[in-house]
Amino acid sequence: MCGIAGYIGHKPAGQVLIVALERLKYRGYDSAGLALVDEGEIRLRRAAGKLKNLSDKLDAVPAPGTCGIAHTRWATHGPPTEANCHPHLSGDERIAVVHNGIIENHEELRRELQAQGAVFRSETDTEVIPHLIASVYRGKPLEAVRATVARLRGSFAFAVVFADQPRRIIAVRQGSPLLVGRGRSAPGSAPAGRARNDRSVTDGGTPSDQRELLIASDIPALLPHATEMLVLEDGQIADLGEHGVRITTFTGSPVTAVFKPIEITAEAVSKGKHDTFMAKEIAEQPEVLRRLLDSRLRDGRLVEPDLGVDLRAVNHLVFLACGTSWHAALNGRRYLESLARVHVEVDISSEYRYRNPIAAGGTLVVSISQSGETADTIAGQRLARAKFIPVVALVNVVTSTIARESGGVLPLLAGPEIGVASTKAYTAQLFALWLFALQVAKAKGLLDPETESKAIAAALRLPGQVAETLAGCESAVAEAADLFSAANDTVFLGRGGEHPTALEGALKLKEIAYVHASGYPAGEFKHGPIAQVTAKLPVICLCPHDQLYEKMLSNVQEVRARHGRIIGVGHAGDRQLKDLCDHVFPVARADDEMLQPLLSILPLQRYAYHVARRRDCDVDQPRNLAKSVTVE
Ligand code: G6P
Repeated sequence: MCGIAGYIGHKPAGQVLIVALERLKYRGYDSAGLALVDEGEIRLRRAAGKLKNLSDKLDAVPAPGTCGIAHTRWATHGPPTEANCHPHLSGDERIAVVHNGIIENHEELRRELQAQGAVFRSETDTEVIPHLIASVYRGKPLEAVRATVARLRGSFAFAVVFADQPRRIIAVRQGSPLLVGRGRSAPGSAPAGRARNDRSVTDGGTPSDQRELLIASDIPALLPHATEMLVLEDGQIADLGEHGVRITTFTGSPVTAVFKPIEITAEAVSKGKHDTFMAKEIAEQPEVLRRLLDSRLRDGRLVEPDLGVDLRAVNHLVFLACGTSWHAALNGRRYLESLARVHVEVDISSEYRYRNPIAAGGTLVVSISQSGETADTIAGQRLARAKFIPVVALVNVVTSTIARESGGVLPLLAGPEIGVASTKAYTAQLFALWLFALQVAKAKGLLDPETESKAIAAALRLPGQVAETLAGCESAVAEAADLFSAANDTVFLGRGGEHPTALEGALKLKEIAYVHASGYPAGEFKHGPIAQVTAKLPVICLCPHDQLYEKMLSNVQEVRARHGRIIGVGHAGDRQLKDLCDHVFPVARADDEMLQPLLSILPLQRYAYHVARRRDCDVDQPRNLAKSVTVE
């Protein structure tokens, strides 16, 4: 959780860092702060609450400086007060630190430092870092940071600035993501202030070509200043300064810094014409699915990404995932079982990691994660690897820990997803899982050319059907949101492939509109939950024309007989459904029934969005949540 950023360049660092935090706030947004180094002092600005509070503070009391670090927080240790905001300072206020992750031995270190006279000002685990660095700092930042990391246990990415090192940031990675960015070489654009004459780089290095240098937890925060980046590995320290970027290991061995061009554009991380990132990301779905399919087709046939695994030998698949990704995995099981006839388990990562799973031959673990940084999924796949089970990652962020720690990667290619509630990544996950099931089926000789051609034809029509559904359902969805936005409970029912849709529809409403919502397999509803039905309860029933349509309609009848308010999700023109329901959200009909859940979820995403707007909720930054959960 939390996002960190840092900047050294010729622009006012405060403004650059506010924009960077804006792009990281999906990682947490209950307080924010920054520290700039200026005239031998550290200028600290911090504010509890939304980022706007920090930028207002910076406007009211500007902080000069062209080098600094910044943080947006999702509280773990200590409530989101200003005292607990990062950056945290050493006792003499000459060292400032921002941190993402958890220092597991912070209690013990705190006691030790207090015994030496350190006075702590916050309840955070982070504050031990600046105190520890200060206790060993003798003018050599790298040495002090190296000595400090040797004392820390846990998972962390942190960045440090020193009052007497005006253009220097030291950044460390152990278990939490951290990227280093570099701008274009700008001959003649000397850094501002006295930096060119600064002799503070005491650890050697080559002269700088005066590029802007950045660090950040995620790529969007490097834009637009950085044009290339490198992913810092666990156990590495990046030293950014007049000398450029130097990477060493925790024990001081030099590592060659290899930068790669950044392919994401600044436009991809802005809202464009939309009022929220969520609205933008919902609208992007046709294009996302088209891009994913394009990447998997060559001359009209499916091409298989090399996953480094012999798929013919796989007879047991385990999907590891959390949240929305877990819902996608539930449909993944249907795809793999039905197309590739493989036995599949779907596990919530936080449960799997504390079991003692069986490592039989022929098992493959597939980690599903939008961010690729979810702590429980990382831990689950590390457990699998420790048991010599091969791991493949289905991720959106291909530079992520989950991707890098996997034998093979299936990229979602959905582009940056910034709204906390996952939308386009969910449909991309479903599509990628279906394509993966076809790949496994093909490897096992279970996909004849005719079936493959039919599947490709269905896939090619899908993006158009997504666009058609988004346009076609909008007025019915908005109307229902007008009627039901005050309801404090909502039930979602679905069967088969639409059961995960029901779970995902309920999660969207809980996440962004704070409405208590539950998704059930419709056939199970009568075993208890049906007792909740009253004339005030909206019940959203997923009724596309699939093999369970008739069964589903019987379940709808059961709700109707108890006077529930029924919203049906089904095909436009389905008279039977229209007669049974109070409202219908029309969806297009997928050519392949297995792809129908990618269409059925669309009105539910828009419904959650509309209800949230009517309840005055912050759609992109719902309370208490973070997009990337890097803590247990
Ligand atoms: C958080 C987010 C959810 C997301 C889940 C898993 O809880 O709020 O929207 O589904 O993490 O994230 P992942 O990045 O692993 O898919």
